[in-house]
Amino acid sequence: MPSMASSNSAQRQSNHNTDVNQLKKLKAEPFARRQNFEQHRKSLPIAAVEKVLLEEVRNNDTLIVVGETGSGKTTQLPQYLNNGGYCRDGGIIGITQPRRVAAVTVAKRVAEECGVALGQQVGYAIRFEDVTSRSTRIKYMTDGLLLREALLDSYLSKYSVIIVDEAHERTVHTDVLLGLLKTVQKTRSQGVSDAVNIDHREAKNGMLLEKHNGSEVASILKQCQGKKLSPLKIIIMSASLDARVFSEYFGGARAVHVQGRQYPVDILYTRQPETDYIDATLITIFQIHMEEGPGDILVFLTGQEEIESVERLVHERLPQLSESKRKLLTFPIFSSLPSEKQMKVFMPAPVGFRKVILATNIAETSVTIPGIKYVIDPGMVKVRTYEASTGIEPLIIIKTSKAQALQRSGRAGREGPGKCYRLYPESEFDKLKDSTTPEIKRCNLSNVILHLKALGIDDIIGFDFIEQPDRIAIIKSMELLFLLGALTEESKLSDPVGQKMARLPLDPIYSKALIIASQFNCLEEMLIVVAMLSVESIFYAPREKLEESRIALKSFASPQGDHLTLLNENFINSRSVKHARDIHSQIRRNAEQMGFHVTSCGDDLLPLRRCLAASFFLNAALKQPDGTYRALSSGLTVQIHPSSVLFRMKPDCIIFDELVRTNHNYIRNISRIDYLWLAELAPQCYALQE
Ligand code: CDP
Ligand code: MG
Repeated sequence: MPSMASSNSAQRQSNHNTDVNQLKKLKAEPFARRQNFEQHRKSLPIAAVEKVLLEEVRNNDTLIVVGETGSGKTTQLPQYLNNGGYCRDGGIIGITQPRRVAAVTVAKRVAEECGVALGQQVGYAIRFEDVTSRSTRIKYMTDGLLLREALLDSYLSKYSVIIVDEAHERTVHTDVLLGLLKTVQKTRSQGVSDAVNIDHREAKNGMLLEKHNGSEVASILKQCQGKKLSPLKIIIMSASLDARVFSEYFGGARAVHVQGRQYPVDILYTRQPETDYIDATLITIFQIHMEEGPGDILVFLTGQEEIESVERLVHERLPQLSESKRKLLTFPIFSSLPSEKQMKVFMPAPVGFRKVILATNIAETSVTIPGIKYVIDPGMVKVRTYEASTGIEPLIIIKTSKAQALQRSGRAGREGPGKCYRLYPESEFDKLKDSTTPEIKRCNLSNVILHLKALGIDDIIGFDFIEQPDRIAIIKSMELLFLLGALTEESKLSDPVGQKMARLPLDPIYSKALIIASQFNCLEEMLIVVAMLSVESIFYAPREKLEESRIALKSFASPQGDHLTLLNENFINSRSVKHARDIHSQIRRNAEQMGFHVTSCGDDLLPLRRCLAASFFLNAALKQPDGTYRALSSGLTVQIHPSSVLFRMKPDCIIFDELVRTNHNYIRNISRIDYLWLAELAPQCYALQE
């Protein structure tokens, strides 16, 4: 093996000729990495059941695979299936993830393990980013993305196997996807000729004939005739031990358990409840660092802001330690973190250093980070909720469930015995809910309804959900769609507004904004606004430079509000802006494909504000004598968030993009509007008092 030989000799010569040394090392590296991966793959718990799994998949069209986090389900099973022949005849193995970060990091990892360039045989696709090609056989994607693909290819015909990963998370997309897959599987196994003959009024998924125009049907038919559709294999993977709910839903499907390797984890509780869990977290990080043996620390926090503030506080306190104790490195991981930074958490720390990983609940089950020995769990998680009575969807911080607490502590015992510090008293643990409420029970369903209707599934209440959403939430969400003009009085998808809204990969209100803007010649501007609203704040305001960043922001603030300020494109957080640019070009392409005219309103931005009013009218608010605002549709008292350029100006009537609930109901991304516009542009909602 010449590369090995040259690498050895290069090492011997290293003192003499650095350049040559570098060159040879580089050449030798891929070989060494591959060997490492081979060993790693063989050592994973799932490797012991590779044959059993392939056998089970062969014999069952639907299979449930349950296994400890880190046992190798996500990275290995698709590779086994590929080797087992499931990509023959061009079939694709699709693996859905609830989180974008997981789809991206796992795809990168698997491409490395297979020794291929990312985007070739192994790729990923998430909203606004498609890293796949015609040769892609193993495709990681978000569950939401696969749902969108179903709009264009109702048989999901290019997939031979679909693996729904992290099913225990029960995101709303996963739940809807499970229902859809069930129907697709049935249709595909009935055979193509049956499928196109089925009475589409009866078939719940009669999407083929109802929703595609003539030429599309013809092309799909041709596709089907040329290539007889193979039955669809469905694999549901879950980290939680309870496979029953999935098994029952799929008519008693078989479940395979992958034995994990779990070392004992010492669970430590606090004596008293903590009043400030951020402070308690910091104390615990330093306590572990000073008193415990080697091993990395994983901290579960609720979001980017908390993570960044803990990171800053750790760095502030580090210099107080003696020089030799300062070998502590922090690595954040949360979904909006750019992917090159996300990958950093997987790298081992330099010798003698301890890693502190500051993560959201992303690190609970979807990504496994090697080297963790200590887990700090303050016991909190941020979730989106939906209040049907007010129609708002605040993000709130709540206590974790028992299942989550167990998953979190499990992270400490992957490679050896570990310790988990729960920052609450043991008596509190007993009071936690057993498991997290599925998202479909606590979210706005307008997107789901729009999607199902576009698939030809009109009877939402009758849809075979794994768990039925609340009727009131369904009705409220239908009402929202009706007010936006997406549904007709008969609750059908309206043409063209509803049809167009379903095709845009955006929240219904944003889609509405684009549709209206295209009619009033300001789509150019609205595309920018919507793209900017789709990313984390583009304004970078580090605490230590808060004043400076405020002054910078002022120089291009628009007195008309945040939306117009976004247009000024005087950006600060260049990464968010880059992301927003990517989103912008993608939705612009979508809009153009759908026949929208992308024209600009020029310097007079009045039409843009009117279009904002005509789409965000459900988020309109009026100033009260005390300087707070009353949100008109919910009746809630809200306040302008200090980050808004209108924080001090306080116009009489505004629309907002987002409501954040902390100790106040804060609204963010706000524009000044004229209250008369509401009755004029949204008469279905507002009328002037006589
Ligand atoms: O899906 P599951 O939790 O069962 O495991 P996995 O994601 O397939 O990960 C298997 C192993 O691969 C983990 O134990 C990690 O050691 C490793 N891995 C990694 O080092 N880097 C990644 N980006 C993903 C996985
Ligand atoms: Mg996994």
